[in-house]
Amino acid sequence: MKDKIFDHIIHGGDYNPDQWINTPEIWDEDMRLMNLAHVNSATVGIFSWAMLEPEEGVYNFEFLDKILDKLYENGKDVILATPSGARPVWLSQKYPEVLRVEESGIRNEYGVRHNHCLTSPVYREKVRNINRLLAERYKDHPAVKMWHISNEYCGECHCELCQEAFREWLKKEYNYSLDELNFKWWNGFWSHQITDWSQINSPKFRGENHVSAMKLAWRRFVTDSTISFYENEIEPLREITPDIPITTNFMRLYNGIDYQKFAKKLDLVSWDNYPAWDRGFNIQEACDVAFVHDAFRTMGDGKPFFMMESTPSLVNWHPVNKLPRPRRQELSSIQAVAHGADSVQYFQWRKSRGGHEKYHGAVVDHCGHENTRVFSEVSHLGEVLEKLNSVVGGRTNSKVAVIADWENSWATEYFCGYNNNHREYFSECAKWYKPFWEKGIPVDVIAMDDDFNKYDLVIAPFLYMLKDGTKEHIEAYIKKGGNFVFTYLSGLVDKDDLCYLGGFPGEELKNVFGIRCEETDSIPEGMKNKVIYNGKEYDVVHVCDILHAEGAEIKGTYISDFYAYSPAVTLNNYGKGKAYYVAFRNDDDFTKDFCSELIATINIKSDCNIKAAAGVVIRKRADTIFVMNFADEEKKINLDREYKDIVNDNVISGSVTLPVCGYLILE
Ligand code: GLA
Ligand code: ZN
Repeated sequence: MKDKIFDHIIHGGDYNPDQWINTPEIWDEDMRLMNLAHVNSATVGIFSWAMLEPEEGVYNFEFLDKILDKLYENGKDVILATPSGARPVWLSQKYPEVLRVEESGIRNEYGVRHNHCLTSPVYREKVRNINRLLAERYKDHPAVKMWHISNEYCGECHCELCQEAFREWLKKEYNYSLDELNFKWWNGFWSHQITDWSQINSPKFRGENHVSAMKLAWRRFVTDSTISFYENEIEPLREITPDIPITTNFMRLYNGIDYQKFAKKLDLVSWDNYPAWDRGFNIQEACDVAFVHDAFRTMGDGKPFFMMESTPSLVNWHPVNKLPRPRRQELSSIQAVAHGADSVQYFQWRKSRGGHEKYHGAVVDHCGHENTRVFSEVSHLGEVLEKLNSVVGGRTNSKVAVIADWENSWATEYFCGYNNNHREYFSECAKWYKPFWEKGIPVDVIAMDDDFNKYDLVIAPFLYMLKDGTKEHIEAYIKKGGNFVFTYLSGLVDKDDLCYLGGFPGEELKNVFGIRCEETDSIPEGMKNKVIYNGKEYDVVHVCDILHAEGAEIKGTYISDFYAYSPAVTLNNYGKGKAYYVAFRNDDDFTKDFCSELIATINIKSDCNIKAAAGVVIRKRADTIFVMNFADEEKKINLDREYKDIVNDNVISGSVTLPVCGYLILE
């Protein structure tokens, strides 16, 4: 599949004309408004199954024919969805096995969406059937450019079919004998030895839920069954429309499914971006969202991704739905493009009249016309995006990687001990990303088994679990000259959450880092410890390891408690590389200073010479530079030379003032 699917930025979003089936004049009005809004694409059919197949085996594609033709006549690209995210009622009624069984063991009744069994052969067959009909009917439709599979796959099913599938999956994927399984899962503890595979069930609060190794296995199984469900969905599409690329929309850092594994099955990664802007922490939110964009960009092998959904104004599902201030969404959309998105898409085009999401923001409000703040912002952004054809397909070259590994996120959640109130694995990863983001240095967000060799620096915050081969992987990277940072509670367990004996970080890694961790302390709320590093004091929060330096240079030490003066930051020269260990959880203050030092020592360059100001972030994508003001006040920046301002089509230089939510796109 090519890097570039379109030659322009896709601007559009979820379009649900089936909600307006009784007022088809609205469809014509939609076309007029889409043209006005500089919208060039629509994603259709996500929740249309009941309309397409009102009774079993009775089909009605007429409305979709009409809509696709209308969109085509108006020059819009269509992203066509498969409808498995929400089933018709008749299907659930006739085949109750398609309904999901919750952890309680109780089968759901019909309702809401995203709640089907992942294993049910009936559901899989029904999905394949409707998908096949869609592919056959629209394979040559000139508007159809991409498949959107289902919607936000999530959750799990605990029905007997899924339990049996779990047992079979375990036998095949883990390939342990029962004795090995009992050993790896440490089932001798509390007399939990398994004597027959049938004794294995999914984890549940009223059953087995303290065997972390088994919970890890279950998450891996749920990932694989979701992928297998997806593969079942796309089988007819691959056969009938082999040239139409396929994506499915991911949800931020949802960790119910291993996205890093799933992403490998997609032609293009896409995700739904709903930041909580304007609640008083915009710069942090901008950083967290940037981190997610980079995670998805990296998952797609650095190829451009799609921002499949975002809201043009507010959502309806935050506890309090604050309106983002004018132009905040525009800046948020530009940020997506800066980080590698080739699309800006919304949920949804026209606000629903009824139902659960009738107060969720949409491009066209209930008033039905274009004279709204939101509509004019969307159409203004559409005009800007039309000027960005040269950005499409552009990549970013990162020399720094932060490991944020989905399987490790599960492992850090499931173990019991140390500071049980504070795990926050992905936030920890984002904390180590932030100092680079602030300086305009691009960072890849990788899994622990990704290739490290293209990076000058790899940071692995809280890498509690090591998968098979990770130890060797880290060791080889450092030996060859890599710079690697481990933080507290790293390398404690293997992929079955079984502790390494002999102290951590696991086995050979102690030698690589020249340290041995002996104990781990947790810091209760209201208590403090501090570290002194380069003559400056830094807070220790939540958790810290107590180390012995065994060859490593001690660069920082604790200040108080019985382990005062013991090492808190170490550096070991190993092979041609450097192995750092930061033994404590810190706040932004430390990461900022420590990473600045790393950037200087390793000589990591920002790929552009414009100096950022606080709250103003610079990001280069291929040859385009994005300067974005996330601060709540106007900011001045100095351009180091003349640049072409793509949005205003002129040449600028010297000092430039960026208003709140202002941005520049330069070449
Ligand atoms: C998700 C779903 C959409 C819609 C939006 C609302 O992203 O995919 O169908 O419900 O949330 O924010
Ligand atoms: Zn099931």
